[in-house]
Amino acid sequence: MLDIIKTRRSVREFSPKAISKDDLLQLAEAGFMAPTARAQQSAAFVIIDDKKIIADLVTVSPGARVLANAQAVIAVFCPDVNKLLTKEMVMEDLGAVTENILLAATSLKIGSCWIGIAPIAERMVKAEKILNLPKGAFIFSLVALGYPLNPEKAFYVKDKVKPELIYWNQVK
Ligand SMILES: Cc1cc2nc3c(=O)[nH]c(=O)nc-3n(C[C@H](O)[C@H](O)[C@H](O)COP(=O)(O)O)c2cc1C
Repeated sequence: MLDIIKTRRSVREFSPKAISKDDLLQLAEAGFMAPTARAQQSAAFVIIDDKKIIADLVTVSPGARVLANAQAVIAVFCPDVNKLLTKEMVMEDLGAVTENILLAATSLKIGSCWIGIAPIAERMVKAEKILNLPKGAFIFSLVALGYPLNPEKAFYVKDKVKPELIYWNQVK
């Protein structure tokens, strides 16, 4: 598992090979497995494999242009924020959910990239409209998915660890 965490990278160039519906469903299932505040299970998913809808999603933000050659996208959203026990924590919930999808994709050798949507209102409105989300829904992220164009370069360890930012017991 640590290997998956360490070698997960954002992948932005995808091969034309399609991802099976079974694998896409597994990724959504991994999302449901994430921790959520008071176990409120706030997440729902739209799995998008329709190229027309993916092309529309490219317009949601500058960073969404990576979706142009993605084989599929998973939109992470909460169907009705007002029904949550701890709605203040919906962003934390859906962040954990999104990371679970990225890690599950890495474990299946599927490339993935987190496309940030919330809390930027303009992006949220555009994405909610394209995906026909119900009133009260809260879109959090889009995950671009596809087999990497260069599989041997897609998953690798990046040196991000800063020992000087790890403290024991108190910050001195
Ligand atoms: C909240 C958030 C929003 C992000 N939005 C985008 C985005 O819109 N487009 C994109 O290409 N990458 C996006 N990323 C991916 C980051 O650019 C990437 O994680 C970062 O460069 C580190 O690289 P790594 O994922 O390979 O470790 C986002 C990541 C996070 C956590």
